[in-house]
Amino acid sequence: MTMTMHADVSAVGVRTVYLNGEFLPSDQATLSVDDRGFLFGDGVYEVTRVLSGQFVESGRHRQRLERGLRALEIPMTAAELDLLDGVAERLINHNGLGAGEAMVYLQITRGAAFPRTHQFPSTHTRPTIYLSAAALSSKEELRERGVSVITVPDIRWARCDLKTVNLLPNALARQKAAVVDAYEALFVRDGVLLEGSQTNLFAVIDGELRTAPATNYILAGVTRDVVLEVARSAGMHVREFPVLLDEMSRATEFFLTSTTNDVMPIVQIDDQPVSDGRPGPVTQQLHGAFMERLSWGVRQ
Ligand code: PDD
Repeated sequence: MTMTMHADVSAVGVRTVYLNGEFLPSDQATLSVDDRGFLFGDGVYEVTRVLSGQFVESGRHRQRLERGLRALEIPMTAAELDLLDGVAERLINHNGLGAGEAMVYLQITRGAAFPRTHQFPSTHTRPTIYLSAAALSSKEELRERGVSVITVPDIRWARCDLKTVNLLPNALARQKAAVVDAYEALFVRDGVLLEGSQTNLFAVIDGELRTAPATNYILAGVTRDVVLEVARSAGMHVREFPVLLDEMSRATEFFLTSTTNDVMPIVQIDDQPVSDGRPGPVTQQLHGAFMERLSWGVRQ
């Protein structure tokens, strides 16, 4: 098998990033070896879309971040989080990303503490806060063709609803996809298709739009929420119920959603074409409606 370099793997360039109160060139931003994000994967993250300098669905991203911080008991006040909006804006400007499509990555870990102990360190430990910004390349060509995906067993823990930096099962799954030139890997748990390694999954079965419910077994994507809203207001039949492996062959359409993919049609799963192997009409309709919604969903 050959390894393929995907177009979205770009060379590492020096950017301005934010780390613990400072704006720095990325090659000068250094973390403590005692950081619990590094040692334990003890932290949460968010990826937010920025369109011409405007942050998309920031309210929903903020809610998810706060929920994750609460669940992990990482202490951050609302005022501290408010300041990060300004940091994100400055990063977009510093990196010359105000005009096109971009994304902001934010990560908060429990911070650095020695000696290494599994239990939480002293309450004086300050969380580590890191933000960066990058340009988003267009996926229009890919969207027109649609993508192939594979299925993999879901080996993740039972709190997939938290957006933590513990992404090893997701990275392993995505690597499995990459080596066979597939775009994404779909997690299957107990005969149920749940979501992708970095995307949510939708299907059209018997004329109904289906996606897994927002339980502890998926990450409730911001894009998923907006697509559900858009589908309901277009009068589609929507059911938050996952696709079972047994009924996969009855599905006429599948698509992925995420902040960096919007609505991405799936045309092949594990070597089996979906319908005629071309993006389906419901997917295309939802993508159109989603893009319209995106343009007025900024700053909400
Ligand atoms: N991924 N499911 C998983 C497991 C994810 O990691 C993501 C996001 C989603 C989609 O969520 P949203 O629509 O809020 O982007 C679903 C991010 C973008 C990432 O890891 O890069």
